[in-house]
Amino acid sequence: MVPTPITVRVPAKLNLHLSVGDSRSDGYHELVTVFQALSLVDEITIRTAEEPGLDVRGEGAEVTPTGVDNLAWRAVTELARHCGRDPENPGVRVSLNKGIPVAGGMGGGSADAAATLLALNSLWRLEMGREELAEVAGRLGSDVPFALQGGTALGTGRGERLVPVLARHTYHWVIAMNEEGLRTPDVYGELDRLRQTSSNRVGDVEPVLEALASGDPRELALLLGNDLQAAAVSLRPVLRRTLRAGVDAGALAGIVSGSGPTCAFLCTDEEAAVRVAAELSGAGVCRTVRVAQGPVPGARLVGDDKAD
Ligand code: C5P
Repeated sequence: MVPTPITVRVPAKLNLHLSVGDSRSDGYHELVTVFQALSLVDEITIRTAEEPGLDVRGEGAEVTPTGVDNLAWRAVTELARHCGRDPENPGVRVSLNKGIPVAGGMGGGSADAAATLLALNSLWRLEMGREELAEVAGRLGSDVPFALQGGTALGTGRGERLVPVLARHTYHWVIAMNEEGLRTPDVYGELDRLRQTSSNRVGDVEPVLEALASGDPRELALLLGNDLQAAAVSLRPVLRRTLRAGVDAGALAGIVSGSGPTCAFLCTDEEAAVRVAAELSGAGVCRTVRVAQGPVPGARLVGDDKAD
């Protein structure tokens, strides 16, 4: 009998705090970051198929790679290898329905890889636990383990070592997507270049964790910080105007999401977020505006709300 197709829903991530250390010998940077999963999601369906492949629709579908460069497809081959299947002929078709901007700094590719691991674990009846999945996830990319876990978490190492963080409150965000994505390695490279002449760095993470525990968005707004922001703005100067426009529209604070160019604006409540989103849409400083909440859970099988 052909197994039933499996659908997984997976959230975008935002870095509330992203402190980038020096470049390591493997080319990665040591990070201290606070991730939050947002209600901006991709949906991935995987089915058994004689003709393997990947198709994409939704947000940014036309610029998403559909070949071996797609991180979801790399997740298929990596998991096939891990469980002793033929990575050249995994016998599955992956369908991505994108709501997370492509190359936007919101971990969209990582989310798709995480969702693929979870879906295949079920389709192939592998019965891998969360820990083993997280280990394979870490090999695929720095943000993939967080997309599995969701919620709010402190990330260290490349960002793949996670500890859950207590977050008492639902935060309301406005997300401003840019015309064109930025490549993560380019943004890290630009930061290394800027650091030859500037020593600006975000503060310590502890106050951010305390603000999250208190649940007051005003307190958190004062502490949002991202070391990659200056590099993203340097590569895409229009972001300076986007960030200003969100605050002028009434947001508590704005930040570049991860390596950008997506910007996220923290608002006092849902009503304020809807107002800020409407005003920002008309300001001509971004392509699309969305309202989102966080934290939300990580990758989940659709129709399986009891999954942990
Ligand atoms: O791990 P991931 O594939 O998402 O990383 C993409 C790129 O981002 C890396 O190749 C590297 O250039 C940069 N990066 C980094 N330090 C990190 C995470 C990512 O330099 N901690």
